[in-house]
This record gives sequence, C-alpha cells and structure tokens, in this order.
Amino acid sequence: MGFYRRHILPGLIELTMRQQALLPYRQRLVGMAVGEVLEIGVGSGLNLPLYGAGVRSVVGVEPSAELLNLARRRAAAAAVPVELIGSSAEVLPLADASVDTIVSSWTLCTIPDIARALAEARRVLRPGGAFLFVEHGRAPESGVARWQDRLDPLWRRLAGGCHLNRPIDALLRAAGFSIQRLEHSRLKGPPTHTFLYEGRAV
Ligand SMILES: C[S@@+](CC[C@H](N)C(=O)[O-])C[C@H]1O[C@@H](n2cnc3c(N)ncnc32)[C@H](O)[C@@H]1O
Repeated sequence: MGFYRRHILPGLIELTMRQQALLPYRQRLVGMAVGEVLEIGVGSGLNLPLYGAGVRSVVGVEPSAELLNLARRRAAAAAVPVELIGSSAEVLPLADASVDTIVSSWTLCTIPDIARALAEARRVLRPGGAFLFVEHGRAPESGVARWQDRLDPLWRRLAGGCHLNRPIDALLRAAGFSIQRLEHSRLKGPPTHTFLYEGRAV
C-alpha cells in the first residue's frame, strides 16, 4: 500500500482532479476568496493559477510530499504569492485569527479527523472571514446513501482515505460554522461519487 500511496495515487489524484468539468467550480470558489487565503489540502495546486484580484497571498497546506511537489510548479506561476506547507489540516501552523478566507475543494472527504480540522479552521479564521467549499459527499436519496455506506470502506483504501458518505453541511454546522450559502449539484458519473456541496460558511 505504501508504494501505491506514494507513487501511483498522487498521479491518479492529479489526473482525476484536473478534469475540465471541475474547472467552473474552482473558478467560482476561488473567485470569492479575498485577503490572506488558506487552502487546506491544496493537492497538486490546481486552484493556484486561479487566484487573482482581491487576494493578497495564499498559504497551501498539504500532507502529501508528492502532491506538494506537483503544486510547486503551479505556485511559481501564480499571480499572487504562494507559500506551500507540508502539514495536515488538523494541526495548522498558523496563528489564531490570521486568515480572511479558507478554501477547501474536494478535501473535507479525505481529512481523517474532520472535527479537529474544522476546529483548527475556526481558530485561524478572522472574525467575519469565510470558509469556501466545494466537496462531494452524502447523497440525499436513501438508496444512494446506503450504497455510499457500503462502498466507503473499500473506496477509502483505494482513494487515499477519501470518504464517500460525509454529510458536509452537517459537519460544518457541528463544528460551529453557520452556512450562509449552500448549493447542490451533480457531476457526471456514479451517483455515489458525484453529489456536490458548494457554498460559504462563516
Ligand atoms: C481529492 S484531493 C483534492 C486536492 C485539491 N484540493 C484539489 O482540489 O485538487 C484530496 C486532498 O486532501 C489531502 N488531504 C488528505 N489528508 C489531509 C489532511 N489531514 N489535511 C489536509 N489535506 C489532506 C490529500 O492529500 C489530497 O491532496
């Protein structure tokens, strides 16, 4: 599993995550970011070229050294200063109330201790700051959700810890966030993998 995780999975994540269908979601999300931005699970840095006006700097946190290497190239070409940090979202190496926007794209599914990561997000977010997210997660249809629960243990092993069945809005609320905007949509593909939560929490 170590070889798969280090040498195969990062390439698979990069390939899957750079599909064109995700670009409009990324553009909308990043377009709402302002000020000092923290991106959790920055991955291979696919959002980095999209940051522009209104953003002073971006800190990207990512535990995978292989994905961080891929992100470095995109960081160098970004229009805003980018700092990449090898760390996990559960232990953010940032001061309290130090960022204006947190960006999370398809990351909350994978963070092992999601409650701890969201508590850290609240700690580093300035009062009035926003947590912007686009995530896949638990589908509203009970039949699909049942399949998500069934497939989750296997999928998690194949996809580097990604959960299919996380109720993203409920997790944000349980962490003390208030959701200001939430939209649902679906990507093409298996219904267990494609139900999206997109929005803004404060
Ligand atoms: C599906 S990928 C999404 C990558 C990127 N956000 C994007 O939009 O392309 C999930 C990401 O979550 C990262 N991740 C896993 N555990 C994490 C943790 N504890 N803290 C932060 N990120 C984590 C993975 O390494 C991976 O980069």
